[in-house]
Amino acid sequence: MSLDIVILAAGQGTRMRSALPKVLHPVAGKAMLGHVIDTARKLEPKSIHVVIGHGAETVRERLAAEDLNFVLQAEQLGTGHAVAQALPQLSAERVLILYGDVPLIEVETLQRLLDKVREDQLALLTVELEDPTGYGRIVRDAGGVVKAIVEHKDATAEQRTIREGNTGILAVPGKRLTDWLGRLSNDNAQGEYYLTDVIAMAVADGLVVATENPHDAMEVQGANDRIQLAELERHYQKRAARRLMAQGVTLLDPARFDLRGEATVGRDVLIDVNVILEGKVVIEDGVQIGPNCVIKDSTLRRGAVVKANSHLEGAELGAGADCGPFARLRPGTVLGANAHVGNFVELKNAVMGEGAKAGHLAYLGDAEIGARTNIGAGTITCNYDGANKFRTVMGEDVFIGSNSALVAPVTLGDGATTGAGSIITQDVPANTLAVGRAKQRNIEGWKRPVKIKK
Ligand code: UD1
Ligand code: CA
Repeated sequence: MSLDIVILAAGQGTRMRSALPKVLHPVAGKAMLGHVIDTARKLEPKSIHVVIGHGAETVRERLAAEDLNFVLQAEQLGTGHAVAQALPQLSAERVLILYGDVPLIEVETLQRLLDKVREDQLALLTVELEDPTGYGRIVRDAGGVVKAIVEHKDATAEQRTIREGNTGILAVPGKRLTDWLGRLSNDNAQGEYYLTDVIAMAVADGLVVATENPHDAMEVQGANDRIQLAELERHYQKRAARRLMAQGVTLLDPARFDLRGEATVGRDVLIDVNVILEGKVVIEDGVQIGPNCVIKDSTLRRGAVVKANSHLEGAELGAGADCGPFARLRPGTVLGANAHVGNFVELKNAVMGEGAKAGHLAYLGDAEIGARTNIGAGTITCNYDGANKFRTVMGEDVFIGSNSALVAPVTLGDGATTGAGSIITQDVPANTLAVGRAKQRNIEGWKRPVKIKK
């Protein structure tokens, strides 16, 4: 059966106390609404409609995509009114309602819910709550048959003792929706058009109301303030950590690990505390990551080692390569197999061949460094003249003396050597020593200046 999805995201989120629309607040580095949209996509619907209102322009700009239809709800007159805004564009046999501020809902739960929708049956996602205050209550008859949802503010004292709460997520046969939404009234405690009133209408029309539950109550938890946002974040991270451990990663402390993107992991990977993985990160078998590392959009090949406090973005470490502590690898860095980058070394758009080394304190930008080449401490590629960038090319087995400045564009042939402290402005042929520094002079009998006593 075909499917349309409507995501409600028009509410203000006053309790966030934020200039940013609520649904754009991130969980694991991605807007809450972004999580919901990604989950919706996995259900392969015919269409996805996002109902926006507060901060509509910002939301639209941030999340615009070909497969999304944004619908403006200029005034927030209730959840039923919100869905009605998308109504003219709905045509599928089933319609699923989701919420932009309920980001952890899982595909599998929604699939179970959708499986229960038929022409004569709708499906509600409900949850047993310790404290259902504020939630709509699921009203069942003596035989357990769902009859209606009553909102907390409209409920009698007896109805308020019901602990089965409405998550808000529901799936209905599309054909009926126009009729039901058209008949909603706002004659209730909040003066709103309640989507939940659709349930009693469906029952009156002879439909069956089926229910499903999420595996985990956090799946249906919304974030109304930053405290709830932090709870969702921790829950997401706990889940992410468990998934990685199940795949063969040792996390020395799963509570001090954060995933803000997607990680593909091999086996026998070891991750020390306070590591943040962002974007798309690929970690092969046997990789070790030390404490306090931030690794974004990078690939770590088999057996690579990232030592403490390193920061990687858009980098690739070859098999057995290592970097850090305190290495900074910027986009375009590629370390060949067994290459070594030590402390306080920054690389950008730089490719190091197999077994090449830069042990300490260097800046290597727009550079090509051949296999086994050794870069001395304090080496700088002068790649920028204030307007243009130039490349430095080093062959294999080159030895760069400490504190060399390589003024690009410049090329050093295989086996070339530079003397310490050299400023290299001209190409150096293979197997040649280049010394580009003032010659030392010793001045005999030279007298130091002395202070004159007053
Ligand atoms: C709603 C349900 C309630 C359920 C609860 C779960 C109704 C009438 N009530 O109540 O049964 O237990 O969710 O959290 O549906 N929204 C719009 N436009 C509007 C109104 C709301 O987009 O005009 C969006 C909000 O941004 C929010 C969501 O819909 O994301 C829920 O709205 P809210 O007013 O918070 O509903 P509740 O009172 O929590
Ligand atoms: Ca709410």
